[in-house]
Amino acid sequence: MAEPRISSIDGKLAEEFAVPSHVEEVKEKMSAFAMDHVAAGRRVVLITSGGTKVPLESRTVRFLDNFSSGRRGAASAEYFIDSGYAVIFLHRHRSLYPYTRTFSTINMLDALQLRSGEAASEVVVNQQVLPNIAQVLTRYQEVKDSRLLLPIEFNTLSEYLHLLKAAAQALSTIGSKAMFYLAAAVSDFYIPASEMPEHKIQSSNGPLQLSLNMVPKILSPLVKDWAPQAFVISFKLETDATILLEKARRALDTYRHQVVVANVLDSRRGYVVVVTAETQAELLLTEEDVKNEVEIEERIVSNLTTAHNKFITQQVGGQ
Ligand code: PMT
Repeated sequence: MAEPRISSIDGKLAEEFAVPSHVEEVKEKMSAFAMDHVAAGRRVVLITSGGTKVPLESRTVRFLDNFSSGRRGAASAEYFIDSGYAVIFLHRHRSLYPYTRTFSTINMLDALQLRSGEAASEVVVNQQVLPNIAQVLTRYQEVKDSRLLLPIEFNTLSEYLHLLKAAAQALSTIGSKAMFYLAAAVSDFYIPASEMPEHKIQSSNGPLQLSLNMVPKILSPLVKDWAPQAFVISFKLETDATILLEKARRALDTYRHQVVVANVLDSRRGYVVVVTAETQAELLLTEEDVKNEVEIEERIVSNLTTAHNKFITQQVGGQ
């Protein structure tokens, strides 16, 4: 068997981004999860979700963050499970989570009531605050009992990069049955471990000037080296709609993966373009869809599961 290629990004990752202590343990967990589900006839999708945190000090007081709520990743996880996939959910700690996301804006104490006339321990759910709780709880428990969702948390950019690499290597054993759905908003800038001050930066030293290095584009080794047979989807986010599609096409040309889902910050909940080397599909929610609480993630997942089917058939046909 050919030796795996060692890319320069592997070296950079090892030198400049602190390796999380539990990475090997998590890798084994992901590998076992993938093998078990594929043996049971399922496909496996790795979803990344939420924003990465970039520390400015190693004993971190301050950090750079971004806007991502994790809603796209969390909603998509539910639709992938409904479509028969097992999901590894690599998400930012405390970003939106599948199933509980529906209740994220509710104050827990407003959702509970003491049953009048009974002991204080008798607490019931206020059905007016949580009208659909029974339905969501039933689905959540089914998914939990079937072990269809493997949650893995990250906080910092370093954790994200190392855990994504571990996931890619863990899923390489299931070849084209693996899908990567890279919806996380990943920082493009960081301070290398060797240049980071240990202690809190002092304001008494005057105005702060930061010099940030470029984060290596992790898509490149993922597609070429770590999981070369997988079906890979990246996301392209812009605030200027006029450059979006050109940037999406350029990403496909550069990384040679299968799909880019292109979205603009302000309209991301109702409109995306799914771009492949040969096609371009606009997915749009109408006013009627919004009234009926249809989510754009349902459309995205439906489009991608169909494309993944085709991809697998072509790979098998091509062997
Ligand atoms: O979480 P929500 O609030 O619901 O919002 C969803 C979303 C807008 C975050 C999501 O739809 C989205 O667009 N995510 C990708 C945002 C982003 O980081 O885009 P980018 O242009 O910086 O990166 C493009 C792709 O390259 C991404 O798939 C990213 O995973 C990947 N990348 C980025 C940086 C890096 N160093 N290496 C990478 O591989």
